[in-house]
Amino acid sequence: MDEEEPYWLARNATEQQRLARQHEVWTKSIGYLLHPSIAHTLPRNAKIADVGTGTGIWMTELAKASPSTYQFDGYDISDAQFPPPKTLASNITLNFGDFKKPFPENLRSKYDLVNIRLIIISMGEGVWESTLRNILTLLKPGGAVQWIEGNFFVARGFRGTSPNSSGGHHLTLAQNKLNNTLKQRFGYNFPNWMEMYTKADLKNIEEDVISTDRLPEQRPHFTEIGIGAVLGGLGNLAKTKAEGYWTEEEVNEYKKKAIEDMKSGAYLRWDIHVSIGFKPIKARL
Ligand SMILES: C[S@@+](CC[C@H](N)C(=O)[O-])C[C@H]1O[C@@H](n2cnc3c(N)ncnc32)[C@H](O)[C@@H]1O
Repeated sequence: MDEEEPYWLARNATEQQRLARQHEVWTKSIGYLLHPSIAHTLPRNAKIADVGTGTGIWMTELAKASPSTYQFDGYDISDAQFPPPKTLASNITLNFGDFKKPFPENLRSKYDLVNIRLIIISMGEGVWESTLRNILTLLKPGGAVQWIEGNFFVARGFRGTSPNSSGGHHLTLAQNKLNNTLKQRFGYNFPNWMEMYTKADLKNIEEDVISTDRLPEQRPHFTEIGIGAVLGGLGNLAKTKAEGYWTEEEVNEYKKKAIEDMKSGAYLRWDIHVSIGFKPIKARL
């Protein structure tokens, strides 16, 4: 594990299944793949970039619901999760791209929309702003950015409605353990989106905040995904055997108890933020 680049999620088949499941559950609760204030602004030949694309699932799903004249280009620092090119629709490409570095000249001002989702684990103090600056260079004047993240710092366990439900104590403990580690060791934070977008001179800014318990039937699904990420993350950190982390035995013990919490009806809850804005037609002087 590199302390400067804490990518503590795996990039294996289990993680790919978790990403697919996460996509399905998040999209159902958010209610759209593409914010309605952006959808109607896209031209017929829209060029769309998905940065930190993972398996490319966001593009694959949006492409199914979009005109075939749209072009989708996914960028990721790792191709480990890219599906085989022949399984992709013909208007989707997957490419190498690092959002922490300036994008190459030939990609500048190319896109009508840049989507970026669930890359919080690679962020930290100041990195949100520099990543935003990098991805905005991809946009044409007037183009839109959509950034979707979960605020896990407000996540905790809650008592469910069933009389047998626990208070979700172990869900809270595991989440807090991960959050404290990420804050203290890697300087994690969650940005003020309106402020960050305003400073970047974006226009028509909107922020949707969706509580993951908005649809009661989704609560167990979010909890299961959360347990996978939190205890999976703590498990990966445990493997480094560094001081202050739980041991692998402790992680397994907490995972068992967190699953018992979930089975009793208790659930994890956090906020999802969808933040959008448009690049000005005329740049600030
Ligand atoms: C949790 S996954 C989310 C994938 C996808 N956005 C989704 O919502 O399904 C985070 C992805 O960000 C990628 N990533 C991490 N650091 C990156 C960087 N500096 N530049 C580009 N991609 C990066 C990872 O390789 C991983 O595929």
